[in-house]
This record gives sequence, structure tokens and C-alpha cells, in this order.
Amino acid sequence: MPHPPPSPDTVWNDAARHWSFPPGVTYLNHGSFGPSPEPVLAAFESWTRRIECEPMQFFLRDLEAAWTDALHALARFVDADPDGLIFVDNATFAMNVVAASVPLRRGDGVLLSDHEYGAVRRLWETRCREAGAQLQIARLPCPIRSTDEVLEAFQRAASRRTRLLVISHVTSPTALVLPVQAVGDWARQRDILVCIDGPHALAMLPLSLKELPCDFYTASCHKWLSAPFGSGFLYVAQPHRRAVRPVVRSWGRSFRGRSPSWKDEFVWLGTRNPAAFLAVPAAIAFLESWGADAARSRMHQLARDARKRLTALREDIRPICPDDSTWYAAMCCVELPGPPARREPLGDPLQERLWERFRIEVPLTRFGDRRLLRVSCHLYNREADLDRLAEALSELLTAR
Ligand SMILES: Cc1ncc(COP(=O)(O)O)c(C=O)c1O
Repeated sequence: MPHPPPSPDTVWNDAARHWSFPPGVTYLNHGSFGPSPEPVLAAFESWTRRIECEPMQFFLRDLEAAWTDALHALARFVDADPDGLIFVDNATFAMNVVAASVPLRRGDGVLLSDHEYGAVRRLWETRCREAGAQLQIARLPCPIRSTDEVLEAFQRAASRRTRLLVISHVTSPTALVLPVQAVGDWARQRDILVCIDGPHALAMLPLSLKELPCDFYTASCHKWLSAPFGSGFLYVAQPHRRAVRPVVRSWGRSFRGRSPSWKDEFVWLGTRNPAAFLAVPAAIAFLESWGADAARSRMHQLARDARKRLTALREDIRPICPDDSTWYAAMCCVELPGPPARREPLGDPLQERLWERFRIEVPLTRFGDRRLLRVSCHLYNREADLDRLAEALSELLTAR
């Protein structure tokens, strides 16, 4: 007799077993730091051992094939031309390369939304100041309701001198999936270059860089793909490849038997351990072993349940977008009552209390005058984690 198919709970319990957190810890912050499951750590450790065991053999003879294989696996996963793709340490590094490469003149504009990641905004503020260019901020409505509203906000903030649009695929402070296709199409019609900042989108959403209207795409593999920390990529569309400037210059490295490429500068940036890059195929294989789409819908289902539980607690806990997978995927944000904390760098005392009293890791952020709670759900999370968060929050908010 054939076995009945395993129930979804059994499948996701099996997936969760590949992560180990200290006993009692509820981890709901994969969006900031996405820990690797066991098979990915094993791949990372195995590459590191191989390098440490015989560095001459690895760096001189083996590196090129290993690097190329890993990059091709990533190119397939994000549906990109491998000639346009390089490994970098993280999205921050990638964005710095873009900032160093896009020519800006006095009076040019760089268009960002007010939902961009703080360090990205800071980078472009500096770059614009140095070039005498203008940072143009599109203020998106919050709560957000429609793609038209988002598009109109970008259109209002742009000018005839806008050179570049920098847009998060999934925003950091608000966990929103932005309509990058519509906004990117509009920008391109106006000859505005498009850089999509995608560290949260990689693995959280199905990606085809060939289909997206972008000149640059930046990402970290150590978030939702759960690759080792220190792995990310930059994708550059064909017309811009020759103009790309490395922000760190060393020997570079031309691969044997291959004609020189813009990518060579990025292979050898001085001596470092490339094991995090080489473990990226293991991270892709792990995700795909559960079915990438099934994994995504599991993560979205949990995020949706988190949102439902939290907004059911009290009327003054509010969602910031429609309950629709067009607007959020594996992370959700809700607005909490009370003023946002101004205390840096530790942030909101409520976040610390959730940790100290309940051992729950979940970030609270200040977004303008709003106080937001961002819940990330990955394959190791379960409904019980969401119950624990809801109970803890209810108790702490009542005790205020
Ligand atoms: C939207 C966004 N962009 C860029 C970054 C920077 O990522 P990393 O620290 O991996 O470079 C983050 C980090 O959270 C982010 O959320």
C-alpha cells in the first residue's frame, strides 16, 4: 500500500530541525540576520577546511572552478545573465559600487522613497552632497493602498534632472513589497537609471532579473536565502558593465582561458575566505529541497497569521498595508500604540523587554512618528512562536 503523503506540519517540522537556537529563544528576525540551516553551515565549514588545509592548491588552482560553479548556481536561481553577476560581501558593498559608478553632475537628482534602508539613504546623501546633486525623496502613503499612489509619489518627487532611482524591492522599516515593475517601467521611460535594493527579496520572492526593469540589482544572500554571513551579489545590466568601479582595488583576477571582463576586479580584493560565496549553492539547494514556492507560501502564511494575531489583540495595533501577498510576503509590520523610541543605538525599550522577559527576538523600529513592529517568519518558525509573541506583547502593552 502506498504511504500517505506527509502532512504539511510534518514537512515543516522536519525543515525546522535544521536550525538550532538556544533553548527558550523565539527568533522572529530573519530579516535582519538570517541564520543558516545545518547543511549550509556544513558546506561553509567544508570549504573553509579545504582552503585552510592547502591554501596554495585552493587559491591558485581550485578557486576559479569553484567560484564559477557557485556563481552559475546563483545566476540560475535569480534568472540572470551570469556575465552581469558578481559576488560581493553584502548588499551594502554592492550599493557602494553603484554609488561609485553612476556618474552624477551638479544639479542631477537621485530619487529614493522614505521607506529606504537607513544606511542606503545615508550613502546617497553623502554621494549627492559630494557631487552637488539633489536627493529627491518620494513620500509614500502609510498605510499603503495602491500601486497608483506609490507611482504618483515617485512622479511627484522626480524632476527632469533625475538620473537614478534607488528602490527597495522589499522595504526594511515597513516590510512592504514595492511595485518595482511599475515604478521601474515608468523610470526607464524617462531615461532614469534603476537600482533595485533587493536583500529581502532574494528567496522571499521568486526573482527573474531578466524580467525586471533594472540597471543594477543589489542583494545579500545571508538574509532570506540563509546563506552564510558575508555573501551577497551585485547584478549590472550590459550597458553599464564597463563603467563599474570597484570600491576596493587589489590585483583583480582574470580567469584562465577567459577573455578579460569587468568582473575580474571583484574576484581578488585581497586575501579573504570565499567560503560564504561557495556555500550559496548549498543554500539554494536547501530551499529548493522543500520546494521554493511551497516554502514561500509557508512563510507568507505564518507572516499573515502573525499579522492577524497581533491586530486582533487591540484596536490600536494596526496593519500598514492591505492583507494581500502583493504587499507583503514573509515579513509583516504592524503599528503599535505609543510614541516611537528615540533612544539610540538600542532602540525601543519594548524590544529589550520582549527579549529580557520572554526571550523573543523581534525588532521595533521608528518610522517617522510611528512605532512599528516587524515580524519575520522563516521555515523554523511555528504557530506557537506567534502565540508567544502575541501573549508577551499583550502583557507588556497592558502593563505600560
Ligand atoms: C533594504 C535593505 N537594504 C540594504 C541592507 C543592507 O544589507 P547588508 O547589511 O546585508 O549589507 C538592508 C539590511 O537590512 C536592507 O534591509
